[in-house]
Amino acid sequence: MNEIKLFSPATVANVSCGFDVLGFCLEAIGDEMVIRKTANKGVKITKIEGYDLPFEVKKNVAGVSALALYEAANPDFGFEIEIYKKIKPGSGVGSSSASAAGSVYGMNVLLGSPYTPLELTSFAIKGEALASKSEHADNIAPALYGGFTLVKSLEPLEILQIPTPDDLFAVVIHPQIEIKTADARKILPKEIPLKNAITQWSNVGSLIHGLHTNDYELISRSLEDVVVEPFRSQLIPGFESIKKAALEYGALGTGISGSGPSVFSLCKSQTTAIKVEKAIRKAYSKYTIPFEIYVSKINMDGIKKLN
Ligand code: HSE
Repeated sequence: MNEIKLFSPATVANVSCGFDVLGFCLEAIGDEMVIRKTANKGVKITKIEGYDLPFEVKKNVAGVSALALYEAANPDFGFEIEIYKKIKPGSGVGSSSASAAGSVYGMNVLLGSPYTPLELTSFAIKGEALASKSEHADNIAPALYGGFTLVKSLEPLEILQIPTPDDLFAVVIHPQIEIKTADARKILPKEIPLKNAITQWSNVGSLIHGLHTNDYELISRSLEDVVVEPFRSQLIPGFESIKKAALEYGALGTGISGSGPSVFSLCKSQTTAIKVEKAIRKAYSKYTIPFEIYVSKINMDGIKKLN
């Protein structure tokens, strides 16, 4: 095989209480990429459509992660990358991770799959770090593994796959403002009160238990973030209105997707998700900010080959 076309999905990081460790994969939105072997050695980005991003490999997240893998594999041929960007950069649904994970996934397939998803995650983190100025894997892991993931640790890198209840759906609203992850990280406090830490780790533990036991009630009671949301929600006009509308129409919980401005709601059943989507759409129409909103199944496969 000399060429692969793939779908690299959007992801929701943090999932309320799990800042920098929890994430899940979306099905409704993602980038497309084509990775091709070339006779000339090295990595080149030959096409970018959708958004204005750098072609220079060392300045492009897909390029930086690709170089990390390329240097490790040291093949006697090269790769070229085409990026058809559908996920808006700075939207909070893992745009940079989709690019960073997509390039290494495709190259790995063309090399005969010598690397595990864990190793691919470690290469992709290098690309993600270029965009967000910090190494975190909570978007990359769900993009590569699918479903829900927990980043147990970065050093050494350890990723856990968490089961996903069958009837779980996400609603994601994307107000059309840009929040840079690096900026959204700067506003966070360096230390947190012990009381909040206790609430947060109890929520993470119970959310994981709820996902393991299909306990939607427990999932609902665990989707609470007392550490990050109070700071970052101020960057998202209308955040409280979105949350109120979603919870009133039966969402299990609502929180900031990654570093925002997208806001996710988790729902039990597609029917509820559709109702929640309508309620949020109505509530947010009162604001002057244009937005996109969609309902998505949880994507259990992660990145996949197209055709
Ligand atoms: N965990 C990261 C953050 C995800 O919230 O800053 C954003 O990419």
